[in-house]
Amino acid sequence: MKRRGPDAELDAGARAHYEDVGYYTNTYATREDDVAYYVELAIGHGCPLLEYGCGNGRITIPTARAGLDILGVDQAAPMLKDLKRRLQSEDPGVQQRVRTRRGDMRSVKINETFGLVTCTFNTFLHLYDRPSVERYLARVHQHLKPTGRFVFDVSLPDPEELARDPKRAYGTPRFRHATTGQVVRYGERFDYDDMRQVLFVAMEFEPRDAPDEKWMTPLAHRQFFPQELEALLHYNGFAIEAIDADFQELPPTNDSAALIYHCKARRGWR
Ligand SMILES: C[S@@+](CC[C@H](N)C(=O)[O-])C[C@H]1O[C@@H](n2cnc3c(N)ncnc32)[C@H](O)[C@@H]1O
Repeated sequence: MKRRGPDAELDAGARAHYEDVGYYTNTYATREDDVAYYVELAIGHGCPLLEYGCGNGRITIPTARAGLDILGVDQAAPMLKDLKRRLQSEDPGVQQRVRTRRGDMRSVKINETFGLVTCTFNTFLHLYDRPSVERYLARVHQHLKPTGRFVFDVSLPDPEELARDPKRAYGTPRFRHATTGQVVRYGERFDYDDMRQVLFVAMEFEPRDAPDEKWMTPLAHRQFFPQELEALLHYNGFAIEAIDADFQELPPTNDSAALIYHCKARRGWR
């Protein structure tokens, strides 16, 4: 076995990136295809929906603007606080359509069922082991109407990224950090644990004018290969109805970067 780190490493990898909300928002501000995809999906279903990993509402708020009632679940207090802040500048109708619950998606229990349950922007990749996936999928069943659909997206493992040398930092041009206002040098290191199938990304920030103040934010993503994911869904009571690629209504190819799974409860599953 290559390495066996403490669970604290995974916990940090599921939380740290979601503490700096200003940086998060700025980094993904131009990511629009998934927003359009999930909003259209929600309109098509036309029912209240449950979104796991709602974060600070990048997808949640546009969904409510489209007229849908949405309940967002997330474990990150800073993200939910920012979602509430952002809602204040929305119309009262939009504000009323959004509800939130803070908690771990594997354990949060809601006394409602939904016709559509989503798990957006790689939130599923924070389920690092089989018991976590099983607990989470059992929760989804609990909250899904018998005729409901469960839709989630995952980035596909990229063999080039997984093979990268952890000692090498992959840099990008300097930029002004949204939260600190400093011009920073930014680099990422990739360290793939092939036994746990977890990609550890170290996001390194070094202020140009204060290099001693450099810091690192960890992010950990479980890498699900498609056949493994199909088996996990099947043996936890889900049938895959369709898989789209890259937020287009296109079938997956060997070049796809992300897959969107559309699932329903498997017949006879209790
Ligand atoms: C990549 S963000 C996606 C946020 C939002 N959906 C978006 O598209 O911007 C992943 C989210 O999953 C949340 N998350 C990670 N693990 C979680 C868990 N076990 N239970 C609930 N939320 C979790 C994080 O706090 C974070 O907000």
